[in-house]
Amino acid sequence: MPERYLVTSALPYANGPLHVGQLAGAYMPADSYVRYLRLAGKDVIYICGSDEHGVPITVRAEKEGVTPQRLVDRFHAGLVKTFDALRFTFDNYGRTTLRETHYPLSQRFFTNLYEGGYVKPLETEQLFCENCKRFLPDRYVEGTCPHCGAGGARGDQCENCGRWLAAMELGEPRCKVCDGVPVVRKTTHWYLELPKFADRLREWLAGNTHWRDNVRKFCLSWLDEGLADRAITRDINWGVPVPLPEARGKVLYVWFDAPIGYITSTIEWARKRGQPDRWKDYWLDADTKLVHFIGKDNIVFHALVWPAMLMGQPDGFVLPFQIPANEFLNLEGRKISTSRNWAVWVDDALADFQVDALRYYLTANAPETRDADFSFAEMATRVNSELADIFGNFVNRALAFVKNYLGNEVPRAGALQARDEELLKLAGRQLDAEAAHVENFEMRAALAAALEIARAANKYYNDEEPWAWRERDRGRAETILNVSCRVAATLSTAFDPFTPVATAEIRRMLGMERALSWEEAKTAAVPEGAPLGDVKILIEKIDDGKVAAQLRALEKSAGLEPAAAVPEEEKETVPTEEDMSEEHVNMDDVKKLGMVVAEVKTCERVEGADKLLKMTVDVGGEERPVVAGIAPWYEPEDLVGKKIIVVKNMEPATIRGAESRGMLLAAEHHDVVKVLALDGDLPAGANVL
Ligand code: MF3
Ligand code: ZN
Repeated sequence: MPERYLVTSALPYANGPLHVGQLAGAYMPADSYVRYLRLAGKDVIYICGSDEHGVPITVRAEKEGVTPQRLVDRFHAGLVKTFDALRFTFDNYGRTTLRETHYPLSQRFFTNLYEGGYVKPLETEQLFCENCKRFLPDRYVEGTCPHCGAGGARGDQCENCGRWLAAMELGEPRCKVCDGVPVVRKTTHWYLELPKFADRLREWLAGNTHWRDNVRKFCLSWLDEGLADRAITRDINWGVPVPLPEARGKVLYVWFDAPIGYITSTIEWARKRGQPDRWKDYWLDADTKLVHFIGKDNIVFHALVWPAMLMGQPDGFVLPFQIPANEFLNLEGRKISTSRNWAVWVDDALADFQVDALRYYLTANAPETRDADFSFAEMATRVNSELADIFGNFVNRALAFVKNYLGNEVPRAGALQARDEELLKLAGRQLDAEAAHVENFEMRAALAAALEIARAANKYYNDEEPWAWRERDRGRAETILNVSCRVAATLSTAFDPFTPVATAEIRRMLGMERALSWEEAKTAAVPEGAPLGDVKILIEKIDDGKVAAQLRALEKSAGLEPAAAVPEEEKETVPTEEDMSEEHVNMDDVKKLGMVVAEVKTCERVEGADKLLKMTVDVGGEERPVVAGIAPWYEPEDLVGKKIIVVKNMEPATIRGAESRGMLLAAEHHDVVKVLALDGDLPAGANVL
């Protein structure tokens, strides 16, 4: 029995088109992985689908004046098209609004957890809009930031100071939809009691020594800090209804039902094949290797919450075997931001670039162990100098030679010389190396191993000079070209996980009916004597004009003049309370903040803003105004004379009429705020390292 794999990519939200950052994170490596597994003879299915619930979808639908269903129908169809264009090989691409399959299964998950004693209700206070007649999700509320005092802060985050908020903390809150003043109302939600799974999760994680360090350590540190209960219901009317009579009008939280979509989509796959129980072979077999490809912002859900949800079911579901989480892809040196239109949509990129070019670059430059940067100029360089000049060039020059000088038939080999054998052996070794890298989720290294085969083949071709033999000893020329065709066939397997259009082209040109399996590719038999198909250029080079045009389009859509000032960095998705993934910074990032010791000279309250204190601070031979939202915790006179820490190069702002040129650092815990002060004495202006 071949090893069995169930591979998934994070279900993308159906509230917008796909951008290259998402593609690089959770999709590109997964499609390459499953393509490899199939060629290696494993039993594998690749499952995905659209994630169609959640507040952002209702917000966007409202903005566009359509129903959420209409909205997700549209984007779901768009996503399907995009993945097709990318030559993705999902065995099933489903969706989470399937009322017949997904809803009952999600409800069953909830009920099982509830009956198992893992879910409990809790009454909390939340903002309610009486005009709109609904509880307001955090991002539906706007008000004054409790930290910096800026107006227009959203209920989940303040754009001014960047801090995460809860809507209940906002001063003077307003409903974003009708601008009415919301009231506080009690509401009940159901919480998943994660602490009850802590021991089992810890034990399971301890066994997962084969995981990537970033994921495993991240989870262990969560466990060490102690898991908290998490609300898994919401007061909106878009989602899977909570299956309890006392929870009428409430739905399951999108992050509860979405991963269940992996199972629903597998069930759909089994039904479509006419083998309705077949999904069980994957989900209910402890030997299945369940592999979830995700971006790093999804780690907590996949590595802790979802496994707990599975553990809480009586069915005996398999737990994730591996969760390869990629880091982020930046774009031309800045964070990708869909809200600011700083993004490259896959569909737009495919209008100008070959599928293989995009796939190649996103793999060669994959954000595997650290964030990577997508740059059009770099894409052109790498595609042109590697994919086209090495891989494409070798195949094209060899096949063109056969076509022009050797009768356009796959040539037969005479006796092989040592150098011929050497090249074939090297190809076999590289295939092994590539396989090992793919199995380790190191797609960059795997691709580099494949490219080595083409590099060696080019060198062989140059050294053997078949054109010089053509007149002298046609048999030798044919042998060289036979070996070259065999290596081209090997390349058509080695590159198949990454550049599937080109590899299918190679097979067409060589008259091969199917791809060689990984094992077969090591000996790479070719149909000798078969006529070649039309020889076409495998990889088009990217010209500078396209690079410039894409850059211009990007800057224009982001509302930037070409080469305009760098906008403030921003997190791509709106952070929620659950989104706690760790983002690494280096020393330069820290230094960029320009933190210094500052001495508070004067301090007073700000008229009409009861949270704000306005001070002048000495930052080293210069006094500046700094405004901070710390009045509830400090009397002005508490601070005068203190040495505190200030971010000197904070963007100047005017808060409630008061100028602020610097940000004071403070720490918060359960609504208690303490200003960071110096331990001992140093002069104002001293750098914080
Ligand atoms: N829609 C989520 C995102 O794009 C991912 C959901 S993954 C699943 O971040 F497991 F919940 F399906
Ligand atoms: Zn309202």
